[in-house]
Formats: sequence, C-alpha cells, structure tokens
Amino acid sequence: MGIFTMLSITLCLPFFFLCLKTAFSSSLHLCSHEEAAALLQFKTSFPINYTVCPPDYSKTESWKEGIDCCSWDGVSCDNVTGHVIALDLSDDCLSGTFPSNSTLFLLKNLKSLNLSFNDFRLSKIPPEISQFTRLKHLDICYSEFSGQFPAEIAHLSKLVSLNLSNLFSFESDTVVVSSLGNLILETTTLRNLVQNLSEVRELVLSGVNMTSVNPRFFINLSSSLTTLDLRYIQLRGNFPNSIFRFPNLKNFYLSGSFGERNLTIDLPSSNWSSPLQQLYLSVMDCGRRLPESIGDLKSLQYLHLHCNFEGSIPASIGNLRQLTSLYLSNNQFSGPIPASIEADMFSALQNLETIFLSYNNLSLRMNVNANFTLPKLTDVSFSSCNLSEFPNFIRHSNSLQSLVLSKNRIHGNIPEWICEKDHLQILDLSHNNLSGKIPNCLPKSLSVLNLQANYFNGNIPFGFPERCVLRNLNLHGNQMDGLLPRSLVNCSMLEVLDVGNNSIQDTFPHWLESLPELQVLVLRSNKFHGSVQSTKESPSFPKLRVLDLSSNDFLGPLPLQYMENFKAMMDSHGQDGSLEYMMVAPGGNSYQYSLVVTLKGHDYELQGILTAFSSIHLSNNMFEGEIPDVIGKLSSLKGLNLSHNNLTGHIPPSLGNLTNLEWLDLSSNELAGKIPDELVSLTQLSVLNLSNNHLVGRIPQGSQFNTFENGSYEGNLGLCGVPLSKSCDGIGTPPSSFQEKDELWRFGWRVVVLGYGCGVVFGLLMGYLVFRTGKPKWFVSLFDGRPSQSGRKMRKARRLVPRRS
Ligand SMILES: *[C@@H]1O[C@H](CO)[C@@H](O)[C@H](O)[C@H]1NC(C)=O
Ligand SMILES: *[C@@H]1O[C@H](CO)[C@@H](O)[C@H](O)[C@H]1NC(C)=O
Ligand SMILES: *[C@@H]1O[C@H](CO)[C@@H](O)[C@H](O)[C@H]1NC(C)=O
Ligand SMILES: *[C@@H]1O[C@H](CO)[C@@H](O)[C@H](O)[C@H]1NC(C)=O
Ligand SMILES: *[C@@H]1O[C@H](CO)[C@@H](O)[C@H](O)[C@H]1NC(C)=O
Ligand SMILES: *[C@@H]1O[C@H](CO)[C@@H](O)[C@H](O)[C@H]1NC(C)=O
Ligand SMILES: *[C@@H]1O[C@H](CO)[C@@H](O)[C@H](O)[C@H]1NC(C)=O
Ligand SMILES: *[C@@H]1O[C@H](CO)[C@@H](O)[C@H](O)[C@H]1NC(C)=O
Ligand SMILES: *[C@@H]1O[C@H](CO)[C@@H](O)[C@H](O)[C@H]1NC(C)=O
Ligand SMILES: *[C@@H]1O[C@H](CO)[C@@H](O)[C@H](O)[C@H]1NC(C)=O
Ligand SMILES: *[C@@H]1O[C@H](CO)[C@@H](O)[C@H](O)[C@H]1NC(C)=O
Ligand SMILES: *[C@@H]1O[C@H](CO)[C@@H](O)[C@H](O)[C@H]1NC(C)=O
Repeated sequence: MGIFTMLSITLCLPFFFLCLKTAFSSSLHLCSHEEAAALLQFKTSFPINYTVCPPDYSKTESWKEGIDCCSWDGVSCDNVTGHVIALDLSDDCLSGTFPSNSTLFLLKNLKSLNLSFNDFRLSKIPPEISQFTRLKHLDICYSEFSGQFPAEIAHLSKLVSLNLSNLFSFESDTVVVSSLGNLILETTTLRNLVQNLSEVRELVLSGVNMTSVNPRFFINLSSSLTTLDLRYIQLRGNFPNSIFRFPNLKNFYLSGSFGERNLTIDLPSSNWSSPLQQLYLSVMDCGRRLPESIGDLKSLQYLHLHCNFEGSIPASIGNLRQLTSLYLSNNQFSGPIPASIEADMFSALQNLETIFLSYNNLSLRMNVNANFTLPKLTDVSFSSCNLSEFPNFIRHSNSLQSLVLSKNRIHGNIPEWICEKDHLQILDLSHNNLSGKIPNCLPKSLSVLNLQANYFNGNIPFGFPERCVLRNLNLHGNQMDGLLPRSLVNCSMLEVLDVGNNSIQDTFPHWLESLPELQVLVLRSNKFHGSVQSTKESPSFPKLRVLDLSSNDFLGPLPLQYMENFKAMMDSHGQDGSLEYMMVAPGGNSYQYSLVVTLKGHDYELQGILTAFSSIHLSNNMFEGEIPDVIGKLSSLKGLNLSHNNLTGHIPPSLGNLTNLEWLDLSSNELAGKIPDELVSLTQLSVLNLSNNHLVGRIPQGSQFNTFENGSYEGNLGLCGVPLSKSCDGIGTPPSSFQEKDELWRFGWRVVVLGYGCGVVFGLLMGYLVFRTGKPKWFVSLFDGRPSQSGRKMRKARRLVPRRS
C-alpha cells in the first residue's frame, strides 16, 4: 500500500468501512513500478516523428513517469492485481524496427495486445512473443511486420482472436496499394498453430503468404471458430470442406491469389451445419455447380462466390431472406432462368442492397413480368447479362447509388425514371444499343456517367449546375454533335472527360484548363478544329496526364505553352513499381475507370486507368512546325504519338530524357536530320515508329534499338545501318537476327488484387493491384488480347497481359 492509502485510512478512521473501500480501490489502480518502467522504456524505443504524426495523436504521449500507468492512454490494468492486462497501441505512429529485447515482453500478464496500423519497418516478429502466455487477443493487422512467423507463435494457446492480416484497409475514396505476402506462415508453424489454438474464435490471416502450406492442416481448427479470414493467402490445393460443418462458424472468407488461384474447395451438397452469415469464396473451383443446398444457409447476409461455377443459378437462392449482398459475378453461370422463377427468386430477397451478376453467360429477363421491387437496393451490376431492356424492378428502388448495365443489348432511350434516382452516383450504360438524346434531367448526385459505345445523338445537353460533382464523364463512341457545353467548368471535381469518337464540332476547350482535378482529356476522332493554345498563364491543366486530341482538324504549332505546364506529366510519381488505379468508391463499392487507347492502329479498352499512366496523342491532325525541346520535361510520359501531322525540323535530343517512354510514334511527318543517339537511353521503349519522314544517317545502336525492325524506319530514304539492309558505308549487310520480341513484353511482376481491409470491409471491388517486383508497364488491361472486346474472360483471370495485334 502506498503512502496515500495509509494516509486515507488514518484520516477517516471514524468511517472505517467506507474508508477501507476507498483506500482499497485507489490502491488497485497503481500499476507496478516494473511494468510502468517497461512501458516507458518501450516508449523511448519509438520516438514520435512529428512530421508524420500530429501532436497529441499518439497514445504514448500521455505516458509520464509519476502517473499511475493504469491511467495512461491505451493501457488497461486488472483492477484486482494492478497488472497491465491490455495494451492498445493501434494506429499510434509507432515507426521503427521492433526489437526482440523489447521491454514489452516483460508484461507477462497481458491478455490483449493491439499493435495494428503501425509501421515496424518490416521487422521480424520476435519469437519472444511466446512469453505472453496469457494472451487472448493479438492484433498486428497491417503493422508492417515481415518474414516468417516464429514457430513460437503456436505457444499462445489461450488466444481467442488472432489477427495477422497485412492487407491495407481503405477508406471509401482513397486508393491504397500495399505489398502482399511479406509475412510468411510456413507449414509446420501453421499446423502447430491450428493444433494448439483450441479456444480460438476469430482467426484473420488474410494477406499472409502461405505458399508452402498444405490446406489439409486447417482440418484441425478449433470448432469454436466463428470467423476465419483467409483472403489472398497464396494457398494451393484443396481446402477441407469440413469447415462448413463447424457449429459456430459465422464468417468465412477464402481466396488464393489472383492470377494463380490454384485453390479449390468442394461445397457440400447437403448438411451445411454452420450458421454462416458471411461467405466469401474466390477460388478456382468450388465443384462446378452451386448446390441447391446453398438455400439452407438461412442466416446468410453476405454471399460472394467467384468459383467458375457453371450451370444455372439455383432457385433456392430465393430462400436466403436475410441476404443483403449477393455477388455472383465472374462465374460461368448460364442460361435464361425461366422468367417466373427469376422473378420469384429475386423478389423474395427483400433485404437485398447489392446484387452483382456481371460477366457470366446469363440471359437475364428481369424486365418481363418483373413486377416486384427491392426497396433497399443500392448497387446493381448486370454487365454482360444479355439484357435487352432496363430491368423493371429497379424502377422503384429509390436508394439506388450505382447502376452498371454495361455490355448488354439494351435498346431504346434512357428511361425517365432514372432521373428520379436522387442518390445515383454511378451510371454505367456503356456498350449497349441505346439511342436518342441523353436526357437533360440526370441526377446531379452523379459522379460517374459512362455512356460509351451506344448510339446517342444530338448535343451534349447538360447544363451542368454550379455544384456539379461529376468526376468521370465518358461519352466515347456515340453520335453526339454540337459543342462541348461550357457549363462543364462547373464540374470542379472532373477527373476524366472522354468524348472521343463523336462528331463534336468545336474549338479546343481551353476553358477546361482551370479544372484542378482533370487528369484525362480525350477529344479524339471528332471535328475539333483550330489551334491549341492556352489563353492563360499557368497553372493550366495542372493534373492532366492523358491528352488525346488525335484525328481532329487541329492545326498550327504543337501546344508548346501547355507542354511547359503539364505538371503531372513532369512528375514521375508512381514509377516505383506499385500501381494505383483511378476509381471512385462511394459507399465502399468501387468503380474503376476505363479508357480507350490506340496502339498500332487498333483501339483497346483499358479497364482501369493507372495513376502512373501518362500519354499524349496528337496524331492525325494538321499540326506543323517543330517538336519543341520542352517535351523532354514530360518525364512521366509512357506514350507519345505525334504521327500523321506536318511536323518539320529535327527530332529533339531531349526526347532521350523521357526514360519512362514505352511507345513513341513520330511517323508520317516531315521530320529531317538524324535520329538522335540520345534516344538509346529510352530503355523502356517497346514500340518505335519513325517511318515516312526524311530522316537520314545511321540508326542508333544498342539497348532497345537492337529490337526494332525495318518497319520502324521505312520510308526514310536517307537512313542506314541495322536493321536496314542499307549499310552506312554503302555496302549492303544483312540485318542481324533480333532478340525475340516477346521477351521484352514479358511482364516480370506479380499481381495481386486487394480490395479488403484488415477487418471485414465489404467493398465489392477488385481494384487495387499490387506489383511487388519489376516495373509496371503502362499497358495494363483486364481484358484479353483482342481489340475492344467483351472482357469476360480476362476479368476472370485478371491476368495482366500486354496486347499485341
Ligand atoms: C520523419 O518522417 C519524415 C517523413 O516520412 C521522414 O522524412 C523523416 O526521415 C522522419 N524522421 C525520422 C527521425 O525518422
Ligand atoms: C473490474 O473492472 C471491470 C470493468 O472495468 C468491472 O466490470 C469489474 O467489476 C471490476 N472488478 C472489480 C473487482 O472491481
Ligand atoms: C485494434 O485496433 C483497431 C484500430 O483501433 C481496431 O479496429 C481493432 O478492432 C482492434 N483490435 C481488436 C482485436 O480489438
Ligand atoms: C536491446 O538490444 C540493443 C542491442 O541489440 C541494445 O542497444 C538495447 O539497449 C537493448 N535494449 C534493452 C531494453 O535491453
Ligand atoms: C502448445 O502450447 C503449449 C502451451 O503454451 C506449449 O507448451 C507448446 O509448446 C505448444 N505446442 C507447440 C507445438 O507449439
Ligand atoms: C511467398 O513466400 C515464398 C517463400 O516461402 C516466396 O518464394 C514467394 O515469392 C512469396 N510470395 C510473395 C507474393 O511474396
Ligand atoms: C489432426 O489432429 C489429430 C489429433 O491431434 C492428428 O492425429 C492429425 O494428424 C491431425 N491432422 C492434421 C492434418 O494435422
Ligand atoms: C494446381 O495444383 C495441382 C495440384 O495441387 C497441380 O497438379 C496443378 O498443376 C496446378 N495447376 C496450376 C495451373 O498451377
Ligand atoms: C403489379 O403489382 C401490383 C401490386 O403489387 C398490382 O397492383 C399490379 O396489377 C401488378 N401489375 C402486373 C402487370 O402484374
Ligand atoms: C534532359 O536531361 C539533361 C540531363 O539531365 C538536362 O541537362 C536537360 O536540360 C534535359 N532536357 C530537357 C529538355 O529537359
Ligand atoms: C505542311 O507545311 C508546309 C509549310 O511548313 C506547307 O507548305 C504544306 O502545305 C503543309 N502541308 C500540309 C499537308 O498541310
Ligand atoms: C483483426 O481481427 C479481429 C478478429 O476478427 C478483429 O476484432 C479486429 O477488429 C481486426 N483488426 C482490425 C484492425 O481490423
């Protein structure tokens, strides 16, 4: 007892019992000197970095000598023994390596330790962790530990919850990219862990690298399990389906890694005895067909199956009355479901908020006899479902936020009831047969309007209001004419404007140059005309990364003034090997932007615009004059196409500074002089076309130049040297043999798709791509190798391939 206690007992002797109680309880709060010292020592090993951590943010700041440690932030003590029993240092700006002699390990009575959301700089998890023999809760989710889990982790046999996930959590609007697989759990450790954790209820191992683990070992998991999270674990083989008989299992999530999903699990055809509420499976095979017995899981709220299922969607889905989220996209479900069954099945799901059936072989009717409503619906995704009309049942779903009906055969006009959807943020009707005028009444709440590849005509009608929140307007490939509406400047959040392949007749919209967020501006294949000049001083187009003005009637000099000010193109951000995609994610359900690009005469639709992607296309206009030197400042450019203009003068040597350039086309101009040797430093270059100019002299040799063939240079009578047969000394030498071009295109990096947080955050997205090694190429697509085609196959595999034609 401390002095204070003694004093209080003496002072209030008359009220002895009352005093005793007071004295006793005050003594209970004093933590031991040793534990206080251990904590303070721990604090000094992680000095706070105030350039990244706001003041008064870190809990350890309140840790001061002389104050009862039980009252420190993040510290909890046992109110009988005074021992520190819980430590919550989550998201606490702890940054630095975690020492294996850390004084934290002296807190032998710890029952709960939360170190999530810190940065331990890829430290190994110290084996000393096994000293916490009483630990019930351990959370090191996303704390940047790395390496193999120490075998000793299996000693923590009292654990009730264990979270070793190293996936990023993401806020609804931010794109977060992380590296996966830093933490490795090998097979013996896993086996011991599974055997020894007899009381574990929640086990979260998502993002942990389990390449070497045999899934068989999961068979011995404790039957007390309520949550098992095994997403993106790089596991291969057959996962024991006894998991579906675990009597307490409510949440089960399983996926291999993308591109290499060699993981299977056989769904039981009967006797699912788990009270499952959330089921997420994204694996190669769950046994061909989705069994009718899925309808027995009456408590299911969230069902996400990505298993290559064939056959029909079982009607028993209609029994899942609690279901709020149904995701069956990217399977091979087939056939028309008989209309009445279809209506019965879906109309029963009155709690449904999100329904994703995209990219199967389905022929949905939805429209015929669909006289029902699903009042709570927020997100509908029926891409590639053979729909011929708008689904009638969403007509009265007034909470709709996202409606994606792309790649169907829907014809006719956009129905007027769309205008009544006050909460609609994403409307994607791209790749249909819609026609007529675009209604002027579209909800203002819209962030994304994608009407690409339809037959809309007339003017772009919108009077975009003052507080327009539009971020992506895609009208590519319609029959729109008239002018670009000047009210677009009201859309201060606009990131992507694509009106390519229409018949718009206008001058260059320099009035868009003040839009602070505009990153992608595509005006290609229209009737834009006149010169391209800035009216303002900088900043003009401060964030622009993709400018496509090709195939218009622009004339005059290249837009020098703009090129001097394209800040975003001068910044080689994102060249570090990690990739981020542009997307919006209202309510956590993300929508990835797409973009049509032209390569070697073919159009390709990129599903997903990399934030590191940057290109300028000015081909097929009447630009004249010289290529300005300043172009060499646009160092993040990956593609540059100035072909089919009337450009004169020399190729500026400064082009050699564009070291990220993968694609350069200056063909069919009037360029003269030598090919500058500086271009040899373009080590990323895969495509070079300098044909049909007046270039002369020796073709530079070395690096990528050893890989280009005759076609890159033809139509320049004055050029000589390899690969041309014309040698520079006048003696014909045969072209040498070239490296197999495929080599260059081979992508050395691994791809993993994230989209989930440490905890159970359900964004139904597959948006975050992570590249651990090697360099990203600009050409990333989730579609397969054919020009502008339906992307079903590739979406499934999510393999990233360069496309060659
Ligand atoms: C603090 O953080 C900044 C920004 O990440 C970093 O540049 C700096 O080196 C850090 N300081 C220390 C002492 O770690
Ligand atoms: C200890 O604290 C917990 C929660 O703070 C409380 O529920 C419990 O009754 C307390 N025990 C004693 C012995 O005071
Ligand atoms: C650890 O802290 C994070 C962030 O505060 C929280 O989300 C998480 O639930 C905590 N973990 C446990 C096991 O309580
Ligand atoms: C931990 O070990 C390092 C050297 O490896 C030493 O500098 C440090 O003082 C030790 N810390 C404690 C608390 O013993
Ligand atoms: C299982 O846990 C007990 C108690 O902590 C420990 O003694 C034993 O070594 C553990 N077994 C394995 C294989 O780690
Ligand atoms: C997973 O770990 C293995 C070694 O066990 C390693 O070869 C592999 O590259 C790791 N995977 C990832 C994605 O880091
Ligand atoms: C499961 O546990 C039993 C009993 O401890 C053991 O005999 C068996 O080998 C274990 N199976 C696996 C796959 O680890
Ligand atoms: C998938 O795994 C099985 C065995 O587990 C193996 O035979 C097969 O070759 C693997 N397939 C691929 C594509 O890796
Ligand atoms: C649709 O349902 C409403 C009420 O649920 C009913 O009044 C109406 O007649 C139905 N219409 C058709 C075409 O079945
Ligand atoms: C190209 O890079 C060199 C060396 O880094 C530099 O001196 C030159 O100014 C650059 N040219 C342009 C146009 O940026
Ligand atoms: C190209 O420019 C030259 C002058 O620089 C002009 O004489 C010629 O007519 C132009 N060609 C075309 C096709 O515009
Ligand atoms: C880690 O998982 C546990 C158990 O499911 C959970 O309580 C905790 O919130 C998770 N931590 C974070 C940071 O999400």
